Amino acid sequence: MLTLPALRAHPAVQLSAAHDLRDEALVRFESQFEATGHRTYEALLADSSVDALYIATPHELHAAQAIAALEAGKHVLVEKPMATSVGDCAAMARAAEKAGKVLMVGPSHAFDEPVRVAAELVASGRYGKVRLVNAFNYTDFMYRPRRPEELDSERGGGVVYSQAAHQIDVVRRIVRQPVESVRAVAANWDASRPSEGAYSALMTFASGAAATLTYSGYAHYDSDELLGWISELGRPKDPARYGEARKALNQLSQQDEIDAKLARTFGSASAGDPAGAPHHEHFGFVLVSCERADLKLLPTAIEVFGDERRETIPIAPPTLSRANVIEDFAASILGARPPVHDGWWGLETMACCAALLESSRIAADVKPQTIIQES
Ligand SMILES: NC(=O)c1ccc[n+]([C@@H]2O[C@H](COP(=O)([O-])OP(=O)(O)OC[C@H]3O[C@@H](n4cnc5c(N)ncnc54)[C@H](O)[C@@H]3O)[C@@H](O)[C@H]2O)c1
Repeated sequence: MLTLPALRAHPAVQLSAAHDLRDEALVRFESQFEATGHRTYEALLADSSVDALYIATPHELHAAQAIAALEAGKHVLVEKPMATSVGDCAAMARAAEKAGKVLMVGPSHAFDEPVRVAAELVASGRYGKVRLVNAFNYTDFMYRPRRPEELDSERGGGVVYSQAAHQIDVVRRIVRQPVESVRAVAANWDASRPSEGAYSALMTFASGAAATLTYSGYAHYDSDELLGWISELGRPKDPARYGEARKALNQLSQQDEIDAKLARTFGSASAGDPAGAPHHEHFGFVLVSCERADLKLLPTAIEVFGDERRETIPIAPPTLSRANVIEDFAASILGARPPVHDGWWGLETMACCAALLESSRIAADVKPQTIIQES
C-alpha cells in the first residue's frame, strides 16, 4: 500500500501481474490495473510479461520467494527486513549474482531525502569526519494490529527485524563504514505482546565512529514530538490522539486483531488509496556529530550546528513518497547504476540485527557476521 503510488507513477514501470494468497487482493488488482492476478506464485514466475518483482510478503517468505524469482530470471525488489537470517541473505545475494539480475532491498528509511542529503554532506567532508550518530525512535509499533508471526521472534517478529532494519540502514547510510561491533540490550516488557519491543545498541565502525540506536515500540513517549509532530510517513500528527493504538487494541480479540491488520491491506474493502504526504518520511530523531558540526535531520530540513553559526538547509517537499526507491530500482535494471541497497548491503544490515539480538543474549560485544561460507 505504501509503495504502490511510487510504482504506479514511475514511467518505466507497468504493473502487469501480481500474486497473493487472498483472492480479494487479486480481484482488485485485476480490475484496478487491467492486469493478471496469478493464483499461484509459480504462475507469476512463469509469466514472461514480468521483468521484475516487488516482494512485500511476511518476512519469513522473502528468501525463498526472492531466490525463486531470481532463478526464474526476474529482477527483485524485496521488502525489509531482507530475510530472517544472515545465511538466507547470503543465499539471496549469491542467487542474484548467479542470475545476473538486480536484487535490491527496500524501501527502508535510509532512502528518505533528509538521510540522503545528510549522507552527502558527511561524504563531502565539509564538517570533518563523522564521529558519532545518535538515533532514537519512540513509537506505538507493538500495539498496532499485528499478524501472530509479527510477535514471534523465531519467525522474525518484534522490533529488531522490523524496525532496527530501518534504523541501522539509516545510520550505515550516513557513516558509510563497515560495522565492527554491536553491544545491545533488547527487551520484551509486555508478556501479552511476546517479542522484543525495545532495544538500545551501541555500534562501532571501522573508522572509529560510533552510533547509539534506541527504539521503543511500547506506545508511551512519541518522538514525533521532536520532529514537529510529523509522522513517520510524513503526515501531520495530532498529539491529542495520545494512547489510541493501545486503547483500540485492548478492545480486540486475537481474530479481531488479524482482521484489523487485513483491513489496511490491499484488496480489503476498507483499504482506500494511500494518501499523499506533504513532508518527507523519517525514522525518528537522528543527530550526526562531525568534527566541526552537529547535523540534525528533520522531515523538512537539515539543521547544522557549526563552529561559528547555526544554519538550516531546507529540503524541498516530496513530490511522491518512495519515488526515489523505485527510481533506484528502475535505474539499476536499466543499467544506469548499481543499487546502493543491493543484496550484500541488506546482508550487512541483517548481520547487525542478528548481532544486536546475540549481544543482548550474551551480554557482550558481537561482531556482525558478514562473511558466510557457501554451503
Ligand atoms: N518499508 C516499509 O516501510 C514497510 C512497511 C510495512 C511493511 N513492510 C514490510 O512488508 C512486508 C509485509 O508486511 P505487511 O505489514 O504489509 O504485511 P501484510 O500482512 O499487510 O501483507 C502481506 C501480504 O502478503 C500476502 N501473503 C501472505 N502469505 C503469502 C504467500 N505465501 N504468498 C503470497 N502472498 C502472501 C498477504 O495476503 C498480504 O497481502 C514485511 O516484510 C514488512 O516488514 C515494510
